[in-house]
Order: sequence, then structure tokens, then C-alpha cells
Amino acid sequence: MATAQDEVMVTRGPHVAHGPDNRYGYRSFEIGGFRFERDEYFAHITCPKGSYVMSVDAFLRALMRDVAWGFFYGWVNFDEVFGTCNHYGSVEMYVGTYNGAYRKAGTDYREYFLSQPLFACFKAMLDDWVNEGYDPFAAPLETGSPYGSKHGSNPGAVNFQREVATRIVGLPGDAPLRTDAGGRRINRAFTDVAQDEPQVHAEPGFEGRLGGFNLFRYLSRSPVTWNPSICAVIRNSAYCPTTEEFILPVEHGNDRVEWFVQLSDEIEWTVKDKATAEPRARVIMKAGDVAAMPADIRHQGYSPRRSMLLVWENMTPGLEKRYASGELPPYPVEF
Ligand SMILES: [Fe+2]
Repeated sequence: MATAQDEVMVTRGPHVAHGPDNRYGYRSFEIGGFRFERDEYFAHITCPKGSYVMSVDAFLRALMRDVAWGFFYGWVNFDEVFGTCNHYGSVEMYVGTYNGAYRKAGTDYREYFLSQPLFACFKAMLDDWVNEGYDPFAAPLETGSPYGSKHGSNPGAVNFQREVATRIVGLPGDAPLRTDAGGRRINRAFTDVAQDEPQVHAEPGFEGRLGGFNLFRYLSRSPVTWNPSICAVIRNSAYCPTTEEFILPVEHGNDRVEWFVQLSDEIEWTVKDKATAEPRARVIMKAGDVAAMPADIRHQGYSPRRSMLLVWENMTPGLEKRYASGELPPYPVEF
């Protein structure tokens, strides 16, 4: 496995956007040794070791998550080859660094960037490359096509922010519950989900401090897929429920154990080695199933119809170092 000590290069400059636009109307972007271009169907990535290509649909859906999640925990692999790894302050961007075949062939390449300039580069790319009518957060059946020459933009979609509760959802002072009036309609897959809210009768003195809400109702109105909302944070425990449809756009490489509780329907997971991308397991989770994704794997989910998933994250600072050093085993329980 590659280590952070192999080579370290931090690019401090801002992203460079090239004009004029290419023949398809898109700008290209450069940061460090990386260059990104798009045409009607593909995203092209070049770096000092060679070039790489992805479907622009898959690329934009992964890019949207990487931006919206602020590079997230650990590895956001756009596919088996290209991606980013969050070092919390700096970010590693790579082609093939965590792919056994690329490493063996010596065609792997990576650079380290300060988070902010890389974020600015990715955000600018998203702004320019997403066309009118296409929402990379939406399920494919619920949005337009990403393909073709540049036509318009979709700022409402690319600026969508992860919803974060400041208290338990529903308590006074927190964001309002999702409503028709607020544009949060019931998803077509969840028309059978009850919409009633629990009654809360607080003892005198506890008014405004005791709350409850219908999580299934809340999730039935999620407008996006594969984008956890943070519904409750208690110290370093974050409850991040989400709705899923089609394919998780990234192969997420965990830097800590991550728990999944399948709340409805079904998701099939492919689990691969974090360092080499070799297959390790397939996990089929049905409603009620609970899984702990180990700290040494990458995983990608396939949800045939919209489903509800609770992602439980342990945000304890420094946890990634304790797993990386081997102090903690990569799984939570010894049987
Ligand atoms: Fe994960």
C-alpha cells in the first residue's frame, strides 16, 4: 500500500481555467500536474504519467459528491483508478495509486494539494461542465442528460448543500422539516410512507428540549440520492440517513469503520481492497440488515429502487491515524 511519505508535493496556486472554450463549449482546468477536459461524452484526465478517461456522467456524479462532502472521510474513488484522499487540510489526488495493476506497472501518479484550491478547482469544473436540466445528485430517471455540447448551467443543482441539523431534527431552532411548501415532495417510490408525526408531550420544564420526528417521512422527501443528511450529532457520533437509487457514484475507501443500517428495500454492495481495488466481498443488505464496513476496504452500492439507508459515522478526531497505524483492527468485533 502506498504511504503518505512516498512523495509529497503541495500545490498552493489557484486553479487555472483556460479560455477560450473548446469546440464543445467547455473550459478545461489545470491544477498541479493534472489537466481536465470534457467533450460531449467523456471527461479526460491527463497527468505526467499518462491520460485517463471516464464517462462524463460517472465523473460528474462523483465530482458532485466530492465537492458536496468536502472530500469526505478517506478515499473518494471516482472509479477503480482516479480519485481523492482526504488528509484533513490537504488532499491527495491520484491516478492508479490505489490500483494494484497501475502500481505494478509504475503508471500510478499522485499529488498533494491544499484542500481549498483543489476544492475551488473542482467546484469551478462542476459549474462549467454541468448543463441545464442535468442534476448530478438526482437518480438517472429523475433528471436530464449530462451529454452533449455546452448548453446552459444548473446552479441550483451544483450548489445543493448537504442538510445539517444543528439540533435533533424537528426541535425548535433547527431547520424546518421537509414539506410540500418547501419544495420537498414525496418521492415517487415512497408514496406509501406514512406522513404523520409523533406527538410529543414534554413534562413541564422540558418544553423545547424533547422532540421526535418521523424519520421515514423525512427520508421519503429527500430530493437527492447518495448524499447523507446529518440528522443528529451527539459528540462524535453522526447519524447520516440518506436515500439511494442506482449506483453510489464513488467507491468510498473507508479510513475508519462505518456502519450501515438498511432501513427499507435493498442495496447490493461490492467490496474491494482499499489499496489495490481487488474484489473482496459482495454484501446484499435487505431492510433491517446492519453491516459494519471495515476500515481497510472500498465499497460501492447498487440500489435497484429508491431505498433508505442510515449511515453511522464516528467522527472522533485522529481515528484515521489509529486505523492506519494498525493500533485498531480494521473491523469492530472479533468473533
Ligand atoms: Fe463509506
